Amino acid sequence: MRSSRTTSPSDSPASPASPAWELLLPAASGPQRGRGRELGAALRQAVREGRLTAGTRLPSTRDLARDLRVSRSLVSELYGQLIAEGYLTSRQGSGTWVAALSPTPSPPAVAAPQPVPPPVTDFRPGLPDLALFPRAAWSAAHRSALTALPDAALDYPDPQGLPELRAALAELLARRRGVVVAPERVLVCSGVAQTLTLLGRVLRARGHRTVALEDPGSLPQYPLLTAAGLRPVPVPVDAEGLDPGALAASGARAAVITPAHHFPTGVVHSPARRAALLSWAAADRGLLVEDDYDGDFRYDRAPVGALQGLAPDLVLYTGSVSKSLAPGLRLGWMVPPADLLDELVEAKRVTDLGNAVAEQAAFAAFLRSGRYDRQLRLCQRRYRERRDALIEALTAAVPGVRVSGIAAGLHLIAEFPFPLPEAVTAAAGVWLRPLSDYCAEERPRDATRFVLGYAHLTRPDIQRAFARLAESLRSVAI
Ligand SMILES: Cc1ncc(COP(=O)(O)O)c(C=O)c1O
Repeated sequence: MRSSRTTSPSDSPASPASPAWELLLPAASGPQRGRGRELGAALRQAVREGRLTAGTRLPSTRDLARDLRVSRSLVSELYGQLIAEGYLTSRQGSGTWVAALSPTPSPPAVAAPQPVPPPVTDFRPGLPDLALFPRAAWSAAHRSALTALPDAALDYPDPQGLPELRAALAELLARRRGVVVAPERVLVCSGVAQTLTLLGRVLRARGHRTVALEDPGSLPQYPLLTAAGLRPVPVPVDAEGLDPGALAASGARAAVITPAHHFPTGVVHSPARRAALLSWAAADRGLLVEDDYDGDFRYDRAPVGALQGLAPDLVLYTGSVSKSLAPGLRLGWMVPPADLLDELVEAKRVTDLGNAVAEQAAFAAFLRSGRYDRQLRLCQRRYRERRDALIEALTAAVPGVRVSGIAAGLHLIAEFPFPLPEAVTAAAGVWLRPLSDYCAEERPRDATRFVLGYAHLTRPDIQRAFARLAESLRSVAI
């Protein structure tokens, strides 16, 4: 203790001795700039934690300033601020004191230990492994992109997307997916969901009243179109893809499809079906919206190229990073037919003025560096291993189970040889989504066909879950 001017019981019988400045010394030795803020934070914390108790008298501003080697005005300001905040009080002529803070609520009584719930393994489809998100490489891309961005680029962006990102996306989509595209034809958006929202507005303004959607399909897409003033019309999907006869009969002049890997049945649109759908679009001035949500991941052969590559004027191609990096990035793209582009860019402008510049620049840097290709290769390896692990564990636990859907993407269909009671899966802590959950019309729960996502689960997660399911099945002797 450097000073003799301590507050002692003899100075102030009501206050215990309290070396306030000792607590403050580390804060006072920090850089000059921000020293007042540091001192304030240290003093508040000492009061909150009870190291300076209510009724403690603080040294005079002159003494404290001298001891801490700071200006007296800084200490006066500090005291004034903390008096205003209620940490300190002052009485004219008699000094500054630690105030009594309102009593903190006492901690709740310690609860009696609860029984540990059984583990639950959620086979939710469509979720990537978020632990594979390349945090360091993404941060590095952000840093290098921000360093390189001229100040002017931080203004409102081109709503169509940063030119360097559109160029990098055009290269990627042409090379990997066979999309017919130039940078001027790419529109950057926040994902497939936003593509549907923007397109819905544009189609509505052009006089469309309905849009065909796959049934079964991705039900969250239905309300996106409803919100744009359109009526979604469910069109059945069979083993070859969307039924073109039912599409023609629906009266819709636009249809959203997942041709590379149907969600959720996992079928790939056959060449004949792709041709039939393109004929429908050509004959009826229809538009096909190609949702290529997981088209990069195919495990038994090279992925089928984008339908858009066959007819860029009839197909709007869309995708995102939601299955390869993280859905939370909200980063996607579309390549519309030329005659829709301007209206879509305008819809994007009036919706949100364009995607965030720093994120776009970072993604462009990530793409240019080859890091995105590496990420796709990593996901491909991991997801394939997990699919294999799932099929192994599933067939070991449930003799006679059949797996359907092509070897692709992040999910498969398991067809059980008997109805699987909910009580059995619940007892095993295995959460499976029945295929009937993805049908447009509400229907009785399908207890034999389930949609299983695997990309986010490790091999041991999967093995343990199916060992529990096998045990649960044995206990009910199905
Ligand atoms: C069929 C389908 N399309 C697209 C997406 C991705 O949408 P977004 O790009 O808006 O994240 C998903 C996500 O689960 C999906 O299931």
